[in-house]
Amino acid sequence: MDNRQLTELLNQMTLEEKIAQLLQLTANFHEGGESQITGPLEEMGITESMVTASGSVLGLSGAQSVIDVQKSYLSKSRLGIPLMFMADVVHGFKTIFPIPLAIGCSWDTELAEKSAEIAARESAVSGIHVTFAPMVDLVRDPRWGRVMETTGEDPYLNSLFARAFVRGYQGGSLKDEPERLAACVKHFAAYGAPEGGRDYNTVNMSERNLREQYLPAYKAALDEGCEMVMTSFNTVDGIPATGNEKLMRGILRDEWGFDGVLISDWASIREMIAHGAAEDDGEAAYRAIRAGVDIEMMTPCYVQHLPGLIESGRVDEALVDEAVLRILRLKDKLGLFDNPLRGADPEREREVLFCQEHRNVSYELAAKSSVLLKNEGGLLPLAPGKKVALIGPFAQSDDILGWWSCVGVKEDAVKLGTALQERLAEGQLVIAEGSGVVSVEQSQIDAAIAAAQDADVIVLALGEDSAMSGEGGSRTNIRLPEAQLELVRQLKKIGKPMAAVIFNGRPLDLHGIIDEADAVLEAWFPGSEGGAAIADILIGRVNPSARLTMSFPHSVGQIPVYYNHYNTGRPMNPDKTEERYVSKYIDSPNDPLLPFGYGLSYTTFEYGELKLSGNEITANQPLQVSVSVTNTGDRAGIETVQLYIRDVAGEVVRPMRELKGFVRLELAPGESADAVFTITEEQLRYHHSDLTQASDPGTFQVFVGPNSRDTLAESFRLV
Ligand code: BGC
Repeated sequence: MDNRQLTELLNQMTLEEKIAQLLQLTANFHEGGESQITGPLEEMGITESMVTASGSVLGLSGAQSVIDVQKSYLSKSRLGIPLMFMADVVHGFKTIFPIPLAIGCSWDTELAEKSAEIAARESAVSGIHVTFAPMVDLVRDPRWGRVMETTGEDPYLNSLFARAFVRGYQGGSLKDEPERLAACVKHFAAYGAPEGGRDYNTVNMSERNLREQYLPAYKAALDEGCEMVMTSFNTVDGIPATGNEKLMRGILRDEWGFDGVLISDWASIREMIAHGAAEDDGEAAYRAIRAGVDIEMMTPCYVQHLPGLIESGRVDEALVDEAVLRILRLKDKLGLFDNPLRGADPEREREVLFCQEHRNVSYELAAKSSVLLKNEGGLLPLAPGKKVALIGPFAQSDDILGWWSCVGVKEDAVKLGTALQERLAEGQLVIAEGSGVVSVEQSQIDAAIAAAQDADVIVLALGEDSAMSGEGGSRTNIRLPEAQLELVRQLKKIGKPMAAVIFNGRPLDLHGIIDEADAVLEAWFPGSEGGAAIADILIGRVNPSARLTMSFPHSVGQIPVYYNHYNTGRPMNPDKTEERYVSKYIDSPNDPLLPFGYGLSYTTFEYGELKLSGNEITANQPLQVSVSVTNTGDRAGIETVQLYIRDVAGEVVRPMRELKGFVRLELAPGESADAVFTITEEQLRYHHSDLTQASDPGTFQVFVGPNSRDTLAESFRLV
């Protein structure tokens, strides 16, 4: 339909019908194709006719269920406006991919795109139209449980992944490709910066910092054509995002020109009352509609109060019309007016959900996102023929999908123990649980010691269970649980070589394992094929290539600790750490334990000289930076060569380094290749104190290396 037809449709709608389009409820209100006006719904003051007319549904999937609900809904709908089905398809639908933080560590945006395309296919054939993804919140605090949903601490890398996910979900045309989804970027804005890492907590930052670090990834998703945006729970400069006119109308709509659908987060309109920004539901509705929020998720402020607000003249009906029109336009883009059942197809569902092709991609992504953190004496890969004791609560755990695993079932996950068993010879592997995730019995430790004594090498399978991260999963103690550390201490006494595989959803404080183990592999929550991918890394069929996209702190006391920090006026001289009046801790290093960009391989890479095409750069004359990299080991591997820049003196102080580019070189043993980067003046721009973006003439440093710490350096001038 064109705009005129959509407006005609709008004009036929009653005010009640229009406002009902702005309401989104969970599927149980529509169960069996019938609206269920019981319990909580009654208490919310929602009537059956509101449910019957509501514009979208949250969390219902399954082709047949969706078909039933849609048909029943349309049979009662006066104007035949179809429902939209939305869900949190975050890292896979039925085939579960590694968590987004792990996907980030692959630095492989093509594979990330592929994973989103598969997730879209599986969910679209199951009846879903919109996914509440990608989540692109920049994060610097691993206490926050939702760091597992992001791709990390860097605005540039997050932006690339934001674009890749949107491309994967949405494809080229939602109308012509019914097995794609509309994407909804979230949580706008800066939800990833809650004070103290406590979920839903206050966010406090300057507008400049917001624009410089936090907004770029949302913007990148929109530049890629992302159809929807979700507001965040937090305040932004004292005003809850959901009612924040400056953010939503000012930046999102007016400045960026976003004309798609803006949805509140779950109950976040009503939560303005708890925030202390609205006295009651009516006031909350007023603020949200003024800010430009189109859909209210899970609370009835709009349906109950917009009619009165319009009648009293406080709210212009045009605001509602504008919201409804955006919703209708999205329904049209999805092709729902022509085919309200869209991709929903029970037969396709049976064919594609968790099919081998999808599982293969999940495997590949898991293999490319596990980060080798330590490998002393080349303990990994495990030497052939050695007897292995696999010990720990994750040895045979299927809790490896991670939070937000949609309709994925743990029972489908390939466990590490099972996968290793298949790969090692008869009698080469013993498995012992050793401890629970948070509890341990002496008898478990005794059995583990007995198993270990009989083996040549111990492989520990440790971690956090999936509920220890994700929404509402903030922690102040981010070490491995004490029960597991006790297991490690006891096993350490045996004196055998020890490799640890860690399953979890956040950068941990690795105290108690990083020194004790000879090798450490960060597996994250690796998804459906996790066990197979990790086993192949352990035995050397796969050479790990992933790189951290979030720093691992020495301790919680250092947080926030991230690579793109400022220098301060009193930076510590690393050769004079005893100096007192400098910016440092007296009981801890300043740097994280493991920096952004870090990760090891089973092979080694050597960097040649860093070469610049000149020593000046102008607005029209970019600069080329190159370095030759050689695989000096005896197996093929991928080296992620990273380019960082520092603006030595700016109008506003600039980060010590900022990622500006990277290339992934796949090199055979002995092979060399050049990593070549082009630096343009545009890449040197940043937000000045007046919030405009510009570059400052002067000296810049350029760093190239395998991570954000161990780099070659050169400098140039912008003239
Ligand atoms: C989360 C969102 C999610 C929504 C719907 C909220 O609690 O913050 O990320 O999309 O629930 O499930």
